[in-house]
Amino acid sequence: MNGGRNCDRINVAIDGPAGAGKSTVARKVAERLGYIYIDTGAMYRAVTLAANRAGIAPDEADRLGMLVGKLDIRLKPGAGGQSVLLNKEDVTSAIRTREVTLRVSQVASHQPVRSRLVELQRQLAADKGIVMDGRDIGTHVLPDAELKIFLTASVQTRALRRFQELDADGRVSLTQLEREIADRDRSDEQREISPLVCAKDAVVVDSTELAIDQVVELIVGLSRTKLAEAK
Ligand code: DC
Repeated sequence: MNGGRNCDRINVAIDGPAGAGKSTVARKVAERLGYIYIDTGAMYRAVTLAANRAGIAPDEADRLGMLVGKLDIRLKPGAGGQSVLLNKEDVTSAIRTREVTLRVSQVASHQPVRSRLVELQRQLAADKGIVMDGRDIGTHVLPDAELKIFLTASVQTRALRRFQELDADGRVSLTQLEREIADRDRSDEQREISPLVCAKDAVVVDSTELAIDQVVELIVGLSRTKLAEAK
């Protein structure tokens, strides 16, 4: 029993470092449960893209704070995955460039940026039935999520997965990608506000040796157990 809350659905939080497979896994888990998938990294990427376009450097906290207040960021679930709209423009591909990737962690380290996006994320999750992935979902955005997963994998495996995703144009060496991923981990883990840490009540899943579908199966099973407990 839980005091009359909607117990037909739960919220699932999936956190972890870059390249651990969070987005793919979260999207598939959402599909299986009939839930909505929310990619919070995409929101930080949209702010970074807007900042790049406005000529705002990733360390200009005040200007970033003013910018984020003016942006209309929307996530539109669709059959082929989630589309990201920035002031009504579809930026789903534009937010995945290396230019954005190399700056996003620093942009995401500023309090005004985080406060605004966390507010949006909480609104999106208010009615439950959400699978949300990011870095601080279980610890900060949705501390009451019924199921929290911390999904990780070795740096080498994560770099290799990113390498395979890049098209020939954007291809950089595997060693370079390993270095960038390790740098981004460090920056996400060491920032002062909402750093990437594993929530105390999260289930840790190491996907180094697991196929995506095995991870999905595991999380769907855990979700069903939590759902039964919530009823
Ligand atoms: O998951 P991703 O690689 O698309 O995330 C991009 C960046 O955004 C990542 O370096 C850390 C940041 N991020 C964050 O700080 N908090 C979140 N909830 C999600 C992403």
